Amino acid sequence: MSAVIIDGKATSKKIREGVLADINKLSELGVKAGLAVVIVGDNPASRTYVNNKKKACAECGIYSEEYALPEETTEEELLALIDKLNKKEDINGILVQLPLPKHISEDKVIAAINPDKDVDAFHVQNVGKIMTGDFDFLPCTPAGVMALFEEYGIDVSGKRAAVIGRSNIVGKPMSMLLLHKNATVTICHSRTKNIEEILKSSDIIVAAVGREAFLKGDMVSEGCVVIDVGINRNAEGKLCGDVDYEEVSKKASFITPVPGGVGPMTITMLMKNTLKAACLQNNINI
Ligand code: GUN
Repeated sequence: MSAVIIDGKATSKKIREGVLADINKLSELGVKAGLAVVIVGDNPASRTYVNNKKKACAECGIYSEEYALPEETTEEELLALIDKLNKKEDINGILVQLPLPKHISEDKVIAAINPDKDVDAFHVQNVGKIMTGDFDFLPCTPAGVMALFEEYGIDVSGKRAAVIGRSNIVGKPMSMLLLHKNATVTICHSRTKNIEEILKSSDIIVAAVGREAFLKGDMVSEGCVVIDVGINRNAEGKLCGDVDYEEVSKKASFITPVPGGVGPMTITMLMKNTLKAACLQNNINI
C-alpha cells in the first residue's frame, strides 16, 4: 500500500483564509485582533518559529508585536513584560516562545499570563479545561492534528490510537483531544514496555518523541494512520520527523510529511486561538 500524503500546507492555507474572513468581519465591528510574540535569547529554531508566527499573523490580518529580549533578561523583567501585555488593550493573545533560558522558570512565566490571553493554552486553567472538554483555547499542535483528521475524513471514534511522547505541549493534550473524539488512547513513553506490541495493534499513531526516524516500518501495521509531530535535524542538518518516512509510508494508509505536515497547522491553530481571544474579550460571536 502507498499512503495518502496529508498536506498540512494546503489545509493550513484553507483554514487561514477562513481566519482572515472572520478577522475582516471583526474589523467591520471595529475590533482588531492582536498577538504579542515574546522571544528570549537567540535560539535559531525559536527565531524561525517566531518569524513564521509573525508571517502567519500578517497573512490572516492579525496585528502582531514582537518582543525580542536578550538571553540575560531576568525572570523579573520578563514577568514585568507579561504584566504589561496582560493589561495592553490592543493585545488579545500572548505567546512566549519556549524554551526559555535556564535561569527563568517557564512555569512561573506561563502562570503569569492572563488565561484569557493564553493562546498557547499552556496555563493550568486552560489545561484543566482541556481535561474536562469545556475549553476556549485548543492546544495548537494537537488541535492542528485533529484538524487534519477532519480535513481528510479520518474518523478516530472507536479506533485504537497510540501517542508516543508525554510532553505537556503535545503528548498529554493530544491524548485528551483524541479521547474527547472517542478514540481508545494509549500514551507511550521511554519507560513503556512492549511498545512495539502497542504500536502494531494501533489504528492511529501520533509520534511526538523528538528522535529522528524513531518509528520504523516494522513497528506499524498495514493501513494505520501515522502523524509525525517531530521536528529534528539529521546529521546533514536536514529537517526530519520522528517517523522513518520511506519505510512507514509504504505501509500506512495516511501519513504526514516533515516538513509540510503538522508544522504549518500548529501556527494556523495559533491564529484561530488569537481570533477566538479577540472575540471572547469583545463579547463577539462570529
Ligand atoms: N516551543 C515549541 N513549541 C511551542 C509552542 O507551541 N508554543 C510556544 N510558545 N513555544 C513552543
